[in-house]
Amino acid sequence: MLVVHSIKEVKDAVSAWRKEGLTVGLVPTMGYLHEGHASLVKKSSDENDRVVVSVFVNPIQFGPNEDYDKYPRDIESDSKLVEAAGGNLIFNPLNEEMYAPDFSSFVDTAGVTEGLCGAKRPGHFRGVCTVVTKLFNIVCPDRAYFGEKDAQQLAVIKRIVRDLNIPVEIRPCPIIREQDGLAKSSRNTYLNDRERKAALVLSRSLNKAHNAIEKGERNSDKLKAVITEEILNEPLAKIDYVEISDSLSLKPVDSIKKSVLVAIAVYIGKTRLIDNFTFEIK
Ligand code: PAJ
Repeated sequence: MLVVHSIKEVKDAVSAWRKEGLTVGLVPTMGYLHEGHASLVKKSSDENDRVVVSVFVNPIQFGPNEDYDKYPRDIESDSKLVEAAGGNLIFNPLNEEMYAPDFSSFVDTAGVTEGLCGAKRPGHFRGVCTVVTKLFNIVCPDRAYFGEKDAQQLAVIKRIVRDLNIPVEIRPCPIIREQDGLAKSSRNTYLNDRERKAALVLSRSLNKAHNAIEKGERNSDKLKAVITEEILNEPLAKIDYVEISDSLSLKPVDSIKKSVLVAIAVYIGKTRLIDNFTFEIK
């Protein structure tokens, strides 16, 4: 397993594989990898002959008051995890390799970026779409792997791939959780012991809403109230959003019909965490 830092090294490796007729999967990440990322690498390795994992904390997707500087980084442990999960190459570029000093071209999409994290983190998805498009152009993978943990990001990437005819198959991967239910995230390392316990309110409140839907509740406001009430009971938690949307358009819905995304963002202390589930009415 190789760690490379330049675009040329990635292209050379991929073109050598292509000459052998091998298929290539791409797993874009920001590193500090955990079992959630490992599940994407494993799936990619099951479905492709070779797997490229990008590890790049992409500066242009962070807002001015967000955690770009303190985002955790550990390329040594990342390489071990990627190797164990069946990855073949890590692309770990410096900012200068990805962004020329006069970089001025961006990829963006409307509609699916309007609500949820898009509304709370202006410019975030423009940064994500731009870097992911660059990675698609550098690696030219057959398939690319994204977690349902970031449900809006997945919808946004599917949208640009469809709208811009990017020749890649997007493969969604289920949310991997800690045993107690907390969705795995590199940002969980920011939590102290008290906050780590408090963070369980995300999955707990979503489970309550899930149960209520299963019991027949179809009213979005009532379901949002179930989630909100649970979160308000946790003193360390502060709601950023609680939203129920159509799972394709991501537009808010008043009642549950067909497939909906129930998504929340909650501050636990200073750490912003997200979680969600999708529910299909059969
Ligand atoms: P990052 O947060 O490192 O996540 C990389 C990929 O891992 C994303 O597709 C994310 O949804 C997935 N992932 C994270 N935690 C997961 C979990 N608990 N279960 C399943 N999948 C999980 O998302 C990004 O990086 C960046 O925005 C990126 C797409 C790399 C662009 O910079």
